[in-house]
Amino acid sequence: MSGAVQPEGLMLGRDWCPTPHTARCVDPAAFVLFGATGDLAHRKLLPAVYSLTADDLLPCGLPIICVGRRANNLAELTDWLREGVAQQARKRPLDESLWKQIASRIQYVRGDLHDEATYRALSEVFAWADRECGSPVGRLFYLATPPEAFPDIFRHLSAHGLVTPNAVGDRWSRVVVEKPFGRDVESARELNRLVTGLFAEQQVYRMDHYLGKETVQNIAVLRFANSIFEPLWNERHIDSVQITMAEAVGVEGRTGFFDAAGTLRDMVQNHGLEMLALTAMEPPPCMDADALRDEKLKVLRSLRPIPPNEVDEHVVRGQYAPGTVEGEAAPGYLQEPRIPEGSRTETFVALRVYIDNWRWGGVPFYLRAGKRMRRKLTEIVVSFRRAPHVVFGGARQGVEQNQLAIRIQPNEGIRLCLSAKRPGPGLEIDPVPMDFYYAQAFAHEPPEAYERLILDALAGDRTLFARGDGVEASWEFLSPILRHWEASGAGPREYAAGSWGPAEADRLIERTGHQWLNPDDEADRCRSS
Ligand code: BG6
Repeated sequence: MSGAVQPEGLMLGRDWCPTPHTARCVDPAAFVLFGATGDLAHRKLLPAVYSLTADDLLPCGLPIICVGRRANNLAELTDWLREGVAQQARKRPLDESLWKQIASRIQYVRGDLHDEATYRALSEVFAWADRECGSPVGRLFYLATPPEAFPDIFRHLSAHGLVTPNAVGDRWSRVVVEKPFGRDVESARELNRLVTGLFAEQQVYRMDHYLGKETVQNIAVLRFANSIFEPLWNERHIDSVQITMAEAVGVEGRTGFFDAAGTLRDMVQNHGLEMLALTAMEPPPCMDADALRDEKLKVLRSLRPIPPNEVDEHVVRGQYAPGTVEGEAAPGYLQEPRIPEGSRTETFVALRVYIDNWRWGGVPFYLRAGKRMRRKLTEIVVSFRRAPHVVFGGARQGVEQNQLAIRIQPNEGIRLCLSAKRPGPGLEIDPVPMDFYYAQAFAHEPPEAYERLILDALAGDRTLFARGDGVEASWEFLSPILRHWEASGAGPREYAAGSWGPAEADRLIERTGHQWLNPDDEADRCRSS
């Protein structure tokens, strides 16, 4: 450190100046984390930074500037962040010397996100850092704050010249925005207008952590690096598609956020529709950020609108009642601490949607997401049409539909269900699985989604982030459902915690001749949908 004076009131660590480096060519940069004293920073973001550092993937000396209010001082903040890293990082047990290195680069700007003074303090940090380091470095601003704070943060970042539409020398500036991006189509449009009025679209990284999951990235690889699937990937050969996002956990500590959002906003608008778009899109010419997002956008714009008077025909919402999850008694949603009495927020939603284009005309896509369900399971199951004629007479009942199950989590992998002759003198046919498990096929542990996405944002790769028009298209599809629910007198249907959702969700899928695939475990598979 030279003799420059440290800005007053700031708690700066040592070794501020980042140095160039890395396997993935990440330029020297500073990482500014808004909401650093919040849950996401504790559970996901700092653990991701730690694991990336352990893998030597970050620019060495990456300064981590934490903006928040809850911690009283830098020592309190770093102790608390250390605890999150020790409990949650992929790389465990905690390597104390590595943590010390990271902690020495954490700065704390304690302040209110709506207050000018916070941004003046940040400007001072950067002015000081530029003097110290000799050359300006890139700036990545990560907004892990409640969504209500986004507009103010954007305005302040722009007004203080912390994010500028054009790079200044080597100093690029980018903004990563956590979900939810808007609450409906109008608010998403307004937020897009604001952010793209202040910054260039290329500087805005809209986060959906599912896009950083290895298994979600593999959807495109499965489809487009293997020539055997694509000829069958259409309405002539596929009978239906199910996307399940089941969680065993309840609302955990996020009651305020969740009660104002509900599952349609929290899980379907982003994770669910992103996975649907990746499953249904046309092959992009290349995996360039815009080429990929153009194709996903076409799918989202082809979703058949659900008119208000048909919402109950195509969508079921539910709320968990007391029950038993994984052997433990679980309270109902209304009994969870701090949930407003009589809340009608949905903790489960099931939808039947159609994609009106030549590839998918008439094929139902069923989506469901829920909390406190039987078990954690995220998967996409593609069910192929039955054989046009079964030549096996009495053994025909063993001939099931072929299914391709893409297991996003847990037991990450892919299963293809086939019919096979049971060994023996007669002719009996059984459905059998052909499995690929990541854990067996690849020796090393995959990175966490947040690791990949932080690294991509630092490297300037937007492929795994949502684009503004895509976010608006998904809200456009879902907003009539939200409006109908607001207007309607009926609330969500009850389901017991630990079940697969309300009975109405079964009826929804049965009406179009299918059934939910509810595997109790991995052995319970390869049944007809
Ligand atoms: C988040 C939702 O986006 O995803 C949470 O806000 C949900 O409510 C979480 O629990 C699920 O993520 P994962 O990676 O555990 O499937």
